[in-house]
Amino acid sequence: MARRRIIAGNWKMNKTPTEAVELVNTLAGLVKNDDVDVVYCVPAIDIVPVGAALMGSNVNLGAQNFYIEDKGAFTGEISAPMLKDAGVKYVIIGHSERRDIFGENDVMINAKVKKAFASGLSPILCCGESLALRKAGVYKEWIARQIKWDLDGVSADEVKKLVIAYEPIWAIGTGETATADQAEEVCKMIRDQIAEMYDAATAEEVRIQYGGSMNAGNAAELLSKPDIDGGLIGGASLKEDFGKIVNA
Ligand code: PGA
Repeated sequence: MARRRIIAGNWKMNKTPTEAVELVNTLAGLVKNDDVDVVYCVPAIDIVPVGAALMGSNVNLGAQNFYIEDKGAFTGEISAPMLKDAGVKYVIIGHSERRDIFGENDVMINAKVKKAFASGLSPILCCGESLALRKAGVYKEWIARQIKWDLDGVSADEVKKLVIAYEPIWAIGTGETATADQAEEVCKMIRDQIAEMYDAATAEEVRIQYGGSMNAGNAAELLSKPDIDGGLIGGASLKEDFGKIVNA
């Protein structure tokens, strides 16, 4: 089964609501590609205006985070049902910035993956190693452990709908991209890990993205690799270049 390519922009903490709608309009003519799932994962406050601006387009609305409870006394948080009601389809879970800056651990990330599925959202689950782990030569073990923890108790049917983003931390926002071969090595390892935890059919369906300084210049080579089904794009998702990545 051919996996459908998925190119997601991770806008991070960029763009006010006014600027966000401007960016959607700037990109409108550039991201038209019916063969690719295109997603904008926008800041929470931009979800409603961006959703309105995307009406009638082929671009899917995405979020960057949520808390695992439905509602209640959790000041400052938003819930999965809130995202769903606002038209969100995909949600990034376990980005390295959430893990490192906001202290999210794999137990929390696992709970979020389950909650996203239970709420009708499609998770984009992030994993990846630091430069120290890469240099120590233990990056594959590290990522395999993240995948095991983060998918504990998640069913094969759910994993078939999952997107996993492999994002080496040393390549995020640094301009230093993993080579296509380095990225493919880990994306293939992740697929093999899914086959081991579930079965070959599930591994064949799960979509795996590469993320980390992906741009208009390197996207085509990365995306030509057999186990790289798309990209999670930070910096370049805020520019017209994003259109070139969608069409790479
Ligand atoms: P980058 O970010 O493309 O700016 O490296 C990717 C990400 O963190 O998702």
